[in-house]
Amino acid sequence: METLQEKSCLVTGATRGIGRAIAKTLLEHGAHVLICGRSEASVSQTVASLAAETGGKVAGKAADVRDHEQVARLFNFADERFGALDVLVNNAGVGVFSAISDLSIQDWQYTIETNLYGVFYCTREALPRFGTRGGGHIVNISSLAGKNPFSGGAAYNASKFALTGFSEAVMLDMRNHNVRVSYVMPGSVATEFSGSTPSGQDWKIWPEDIAEIVRMILQMPVRTLISRVEVRPSRPKR
Ligand SMILES: NC(=O)c1ccc[n+]([C@@H]2O[C@H](COP(=O)([O-])OP(=O)(O)OC[C@H]3O[C@@H](n4cnc5c(N)ncnc54)[C@H](OP(=O)(O)O)[C@@H]3O)[C@@H](O)[C@H]2O)c1
Repeated sequence: METLQEKSCLVTGATRGIGRAIAKTLLEHGAHVLICGRSEASVSQTVASLAAETGGKVAGKAADVRDHEQVARLFNFADERFGALDVLVNNAGVGVFSAISDLSIQDWQYTIETNLYGVFYCTREALPRFGTRGGGHIVNISSLAGKNPFSGGAAYNASKFALTGFSEAVMLDMRNHNVRVSYVMPGSVATEFSGSTPSGQDWKIWPEDIAEIVRMILQMPVRTLISRVEVRPSRPKR
């Protein structure tokens, strides 16, 4: 297994939910972790709590992944703090669910720009940085909505289906350049995603479980690439 010790990892959208759990697991395995989210207050609060819980080397910067200039500043900050980058976890994502007849232009743009453009902007910044340490790994947090359409999912399905195509194309572009690209497709995860409340979600996948999958993907020997993982609750609520 590859070690995560002192690997420099950037996790987007890590102020709560799946991203926070991934950041925590990476820190527990000795990685250096940079997180982002849109609000300065929640980023600094999360950095403080992750540092207290893990004793690990964690930093944060507010950045909206929809804005390529903020993304560029985020990666410059990673250069200053860590001097190199080994892992990018594209986790930041939003869910707006409504029938096509009710789908506003704003909700469409919000969803596609966060879940797809944001991944492109971060990937674009990460790839040249991986070169300095001879390789890297990108893990995209997609969704089973990236393969299973559902009513009310026009914007979210479109963003995650596109992320499936993007992830696989980039994987093919980069696999011979020491960069592995993986994507995880979870079903329902117990988070505050899209206004969900934490109570009554015990039947769902827990964020810690997705974090454990990301850790396993990253720790596979470099000769092996786990390109796609589908994850679902064992016993979905009827
Ligand atoms: N929960 C599920 O059932 C589920 C299932 C399959 C896939 N997923 C995927 O898992 C990922 C994480 O979801 P989650 O359930 O953990 O949701 P969550 O609890 O709502 O967390 C989302 C995180 O992303 C950040 N974020 C949102 N928009 C952002 C932006 N434009 N720029 C930077 N950060 C942004 C949020 O921070 P701020 O609000 O502070 O910016 C927050 O830290 C998403 O890509 C989602 O599509 C979730």
